[in-house]
Parts: sequence; structure tokens; C-alpha cells
Amino acid sequence: MYNPYQLTNKTILVTGASSGIGRTTAIECSKLGAKMVVTARNEVRLKETLDALEGCGHQMVTADLTNPSDMEKLVATIPELDGLVNDAGIAVMKPVPYIRQKDLEKVVNINTFAPVLLTGSILKRKKLKRNASVVMVSSVASMGSFELGNSIYGLSKSAIKTFAEYCAMEVKNREIRVNSIHPGMVATSMTQNTSLSDTEEMDFSKYIMNRCGKPEEIAWAIAYLLSDATLWMTGSQLIIDGGAHLA
Ligand SMILES: NC(=O)c1ccc[n+]([C@@H]2O[C@H](COP(=O)([O-])OP(=O)(O)OC[C@H]3O[C@@H](n4cnc5c(N)ncnc54)[C@H](OP(=O)(O)O)[C@@H]3O)[C@@H](O)[C@H]2O)c1
Repeated sequence: MYNPYQLTNKTILVTGASSGIGRTTAIECSKLGAKMVVTARNEVRLKETLDALEGCGHQMVTADLTNPSDMEKLVATIPELDGLVNDAGIAVMKPVPYIRQKDLEKVVNINTFAPVLLTGSILKRKKLKRNASVVMVSSVASMGSFELGNSIYGLSKSAIKTFAEYCAMEVKNREIRVNSIHPGMVATSMTQNTSLSDTEEMDFSKYIMNRCGKPEEIAWAIAYLLSDATLWMTGSQLIIDGGAHLA
């Protein structure tokens, strides 16, 4: 059946796959036919993701992406890829006068350094095939949604948005494309475990759709960017925020 959105015969690595958007992306991509390589630190939760994938031939690799030897092991282990989703990330809220170097390092190490270094290392080892797609999971925090106390997170996500554009220019000759995705508030453990917001009690009036997003609604957009339906799309930023940027 004709379907330009299918992921059959594609091998895709998703970081941050032990929960939330990363886990859901891995599951949805497997339903679209992809072979998945999933990675995160927590072995138990990562195995739950692996067990939830549709089809066979999937692989899991536990790794702390802020640890250079773990990243090295991951890159050495993976097969050649048609897709890379840089999803792993954390949120830390800190008003500007209270920001310390360790707060910056904690957030930037995983949100910025890890996706930049992982993408570079995979490219260096020539493990991204021609026509491969790289997706950076950024945030509306890099696109004008300025929550008080969210500056470290915002700068970490702005950096990968800009990196995606530079990287897109560098890999164009191999027909690899690099895009970023910018979700608004999505109900995951990140939004439940931080003071970023209580998704149950939050006022969603600035969201035109009047609710927060579901992980599937981000996963489907990531799957679109990984599919051949976006072969001519690179250096783009896809905002998915229930219309909040219009408010
Ligand atoms: N939820 C939202 O509202 C929202 C909005 C915009 C953008 N985002 C972005 O979407 C991405 C996923 O967020 P989420 O909401 O799905 O959060 P989540 O459920 O907390 O998932 C975060 C993932 O990152 C992994 N991770 C964290 N530190 C890591 C490290 N040092 N090494 C390897 N993996 C690590 C975690 O796995 P382990 O703990 O097992 O390592 C987990 O799988 C993040 O980049 C986030 O910034 C989220």
C-alpha cells in the first residue's frame, strides 16, 4: 500500500527512550516498521520500552550520555542508521540570581553537549546512511516561550536548535537532513517531577487547544521527520504546542 510516512527498512536510534517522548517515539516508529535501537541509563525502564516495541530485531544499549566512555560504547555498538533522534534531556528551574556553574553543567551536559557529541561521533564513524534524518528534540523554550526560572533549560535548547542548522549545512552533500522539533508542555515524568508545571492544575488558556500535549502527538511528528515524506526538509524547526505561540 502506498505510504510515504512508513519507516519500513529503516534503522533508528532514539536516546531518552526509557520514558516519555523518547519511549513513545520508539514504540510508534516500530509500529511504522522501523528497527529500533533504544538507549537511556535506566536498564529496567529501557527494557520495558524494548518489550513494548512492535516487530523484532530491536536492540537496547544502556548508556549515560554525559559519560564519554558510555557514549563511545554506544556508537561502537550501533549499526548503520537511517535515523537519529536526540531526545534525552532534563529540566531544571532556577531563577537567574541563584544559577551556579554546577546547575549549568548538569543541564547543558545532557541537553546540549550530549546531542552535539553523539551526532558528531556517529557522523565521524560514518554510521549515518545517505538520506538519513537527524531530529533534535528542542523545545518552545527556545522559540519565545519564556517561563520564569527556565533560562538554563531555554539556553540549552536554543543551542541545539542552532546546532541543527549548522549541522544541516555540513552534511548536505551526503543528503542527510537535520531538523529540530519544538514541543510545548507535554505530560511526561519531566513535567510531573519538576516545578516546571503541574500539568493537572496548570492553566492551559494560552494553549489554543486548551490542554497540554500527549507524548504520541510529539512522537508522530518525529516519525514524520524520520520518514521519506521529509526528504526535502532540512534545517527546519517544527513547533508543536497546541497553538500556544499564537497567544
Ligand atoms: N515534556 C515536555 O513538556 C517537553 C517539552 C519540550 C521538550 N521536551 C524535551 O523532550 C525530551 C524528552 O522529555 P520527556 O518529557 O519525555 O522527559 P522524560 O520522560 O523525563 O525522559 C527523559 C529521558 O532522558 C533520559 N536521560 C536523562 N538524562 C540522561 C543521561 N545523562 N544519559 C542518557 N539518558 C538520559 C531519561 O532516561 P534515564 O533516566 O533512564 O537515563 C529519559 O529516558 C527532553 O529533551 C525534553 O527537554 C519535553
